[in-house]
Amino acid sequence: MWKIIHLDEVDSTNDYAKSIAEESPEGTVVIAKRQTAGKGRKGRSWASPEGGLWMSVILKPERTDPRLVFVGALAVVDTLADFGIKGWIKWPNDVWVEGKKIAGVLTEGKAEKFVVMGIGLNVNNPVPEGLEREATSMIYHTGMELPLDSVLDRLLFHLGGWYGVYKERPELLVEKLRQRTFILGKAVRVTEDDKTIIGRALDVLDDGSLLLEVGGELRRILYGDVSVRPL
Ligand code: ATP
Ligand code: BTN
Repeated sequence: MWKIIHLDEVDSTNDYAKSIAEESPEGTVVIAKRQTAGKGRKGRSWASPEGGLWMSVILKPERTDPRLVFVGALAVVDTLADFGIKGWIKWPNDVWVEGKKIAGVLTEGKAEKFVVMGIGLNVNNPVPEGLEREATSMIYHTGMELPLDSVLDRLLFHLGGWYGVYKERPELLVEKLRQRTFILGKAVRVTEDDKTIIGRALDVLDDGSLLLEVGGELRRILYGDVSVRPL
């Protein structure tokens, strides 16, 4: 299923993948040793020094909905498990280990044409400067360097599996996500632009949105530019 393009350096594997997506088959993977302008959501930057896994996969699903991002997050959680690390998902697109962010997923696309799913996973790289209290890397949990190609192998294996579930039984994807989302039942701070609300995360609904209780009222939070952090 996969056709891998290896690059030494690129601005962003997501941008590169988007530039070739229309003429590339589904399953094309762009991976770079370093990114000079790796990005997260809303133009925030993603530190991508050598030693981490920075990759983007071109997908061409018949239907695209917000649950697609869970495919990447669950695949990262399963990959971490293969290396003995327990990961948890911070809805909708981050993976955390022992209270710190280890990976993020960024999906971008062109309606009805393609989706590029970018995954950044800290593997052998030290955490980015300034993020020591918020971020972590696989090497701190395994105590040894890992061969990046083995991590990539496992990640692609799990991506293929979860992508199949997304296409055939998306409700199962959400079910699994619920079990691995550490914010459920907890007080969270939800930030959207300059608005912040504080509530309790109750559930992930079947459509992938987050159900929040705010001052006795229920609110549905859609995947978007919201950031949800535990209080
Ligand atoms: P949140 O803001 O809650 O982390 P998010 O999904 O909105 O969630 P983004 O803003 O898209 O996150 O991701 C970029 C953020 O991730 C940066 O602002 C920075 O704090 C953090 N970050 C950047 N590079 C890395 C990295 N290599 N590992 C872990 N965290 C990183
Ligand atoms: C997030 O935390 O919100 C998303 C971070 C996504 C980072 C990956 S690294 C590979 C791909 N290329 C990018 O520029 N971003 C994604």
